[in-house]
Amino acid sequence: MVSKYRLMEIRKERLVEISGNLEDYKDYDTYYLDPGLCKFILYKPKGVGIDGFRVKQGKIPQRLYVSLSDRVNYVSRSQQRYNKELKKVLKVNPVKSKRVLKKALDLSLSVPEPQILEHLGKTLDLVVEGYLANPEIVKNMIQIAAKDASTSAHSVNVMLYCLGYARRAGFSLEDLKLFGLIGLLHDVGKTRVPDQILKAPRKLNPEEFEQIIMHPGHGFEILSQSKLNRKIRTVAFQHHERLDGSGYPRKSGRKEMLSESKALAVIDTYEALTNWRPYKYPIDPIKALGIIKQGVLEGRLDEEAFRIFVQSLTSSP
Ligand SMILES: [Fe+2]
Repeated sequence: MVSKYRLMEIRKERLVEISGNLEDYKDYDTYYLDPGLCKFILYKPKGVGIDGFRVKQGKIPQRLYVSLSDRVNYVSRSQQRYNKELKKVLKVNPVKSKRVLKKALDLSLSVPEPQILEHLGKTLDLVVEGYLANPEIVKNMIQIAAKDASTSAHSVNVMLYCLGYARRAGFSLEDLKLFGLIGLLHDVGKTRVPDQILKAPRKLNPEEFEQIIMHPGHGFEILSQSKLNRKIRTVAFQHHERLDGSGYPRKSGRKEMLSESKALAVIDTYEALTNWRPYKYPIDPIKALGIIKQGVLEGRLDEEAFRIFVQSLTSSP
């Protein structure tokens, strides 16, 4: 038993910081970093719980780590739990449903490993199943506004708009699910952009903006490691491009952009305008549509995509 508590030197890249409920990590070896020794040291072996009282008192190391494989295992188990919860509340409680979706996505984005991202397909299947049985489910969730500027809150909203768009555009069931998943994962590259830049309540300086510009490329790289449909990574790469070549990262124009990228550019812009951001308040939906219309007239955003999106917002489900 004593040997389990020996100093353990573990290569840093194999360990990842844990977040969320620390008491859930009972089944995993947990480490802390000793800055003096520059070593990871076993804090507790698997089978031993983290004392909730100590957590509340702040009497545990500030940062705890588990091996990447243990973290992936933990997230997979939690995703299954969230899916079960979602199934229960989807038809009856839009507020809770949206909260569960955000939690599931938050957790997945905390370890954007291929198998974790692939699992989100199951979450999306549940939402689509509920949506097709009763389109009000999505409409009700869209109407729940929260002062939340996180990537996960934005992506859940975008996913919900994507489903409405896909239905209005007459996509097949397969394409509708795919477009929903595109909405959920289009900003996964932001997991590689420092939080202080994403949450900056001010105009970014050029160096910081450089980092933002890199998120579509990061997303492409992350998604390329998964077995998910190739279209998801392409749209993640293209969603900030504009028809006239004024977007980023490649400044590619209408010829290169997939129709899904043109649609997502409209939806993403609308969501960003109508919701909280660290540097601005939400804009009224009619005003937001006016701004997007201007983008269409000036040749940056796609007219057909805009038309379908407006119809998806205004048509009864
Ligand atoms: Fe983005």
